[in-house]
Amino acid sequence: MQIGRLMTANQTVLLIMGSTRAGRNCPRITEWVAGIGRSCTDLAYEIVDLADWPLPMNDEPGLPALGGPYGHTHTQAWSDKIKSADAVVFVTPQYNWGYPAVLKNAIDHLYHEWRDKPAAIVTYGGHGGTRCAKQLRRVAASVKMRVVVSAPALRLPDAVIRQNAPFAPEQAFSRYEPEVRRALIELADQVHGRERISTRIRGTWKRLLSSI
Ligand SMILES: Cc1cc2nc3c(=O)[nH]c(=O)nc-3n(C[C@H](O)[C@H](O)[C@H](O)COP(=O)(O)O)c2cc1C
Repeated sequence: MQIGRLMTANQTVLLIMGSTRAGRNCPRITEWVAGIGRSCTDLAYEIVDLADWPLPMNDEPGLPALGGPYGHTHTQAWSDKIKSADAVVFVTPQYNWGYPAVLKNAIDHLYHEWRDKPAAIVTYGGHGGTRCAKQLRRVAASVKMRVVVSAPALRLPDAVIRQNAPFAPEQAFSRYEPEVRRALIELADQVHGRERISTRIRGTWKRLLSSI
């Protein structure tokens, strides 16, 4: 099902990968999630690898919540990247019942940029990663993101975790595809809902201004 065909094109969803680990499974899983998004919504999907966005831990002297300016060009670039997105999907593994530190660090480098951003959380792990999804949802709420209800939790086969067995998400995770699709459609609905509201506000302002 394609939704929102009448809306303007090119609204972008950033899929932020939670793992930068050597030998990680995250890129394959994120590509698979992006493919589902492309097949069922009219949004553009761009994968963000935090390995390409080095943000040294706690290197910003100011408090991001106070609104900058940022002291480092890499933080400003990260800020611009997040500001440019219409929505975000966190695709993250569970590490020791939480989500990886690199993802928390990337979130904590900013503050206002996340505000009102529609977001979805897709987790994976031996048990699907529901604990880390819960953590991430709380953190996302604290920076005022609008996280959709559906949160697919993908169970990785034991052999993939323990023996690094080859795996193809489209096969191993096929049973989760409807859930992922549901989450991404909810996300697209949020993006288009916001669009509709801002269009209405623009229309109201135009009418007011033309009547002066
Ligand atoms: C440091 C570490 C901690 C982990 N802790 C958990 C865990 O708490 N629950 C779980 O289901 N899997 C856990 N795993 C297994 C990961 O979910 C699995 O290795 C997954 O492939 C990691 O994602 P990545 O390969 O993209 O880094 C852990 C893996 C690592 C490396």
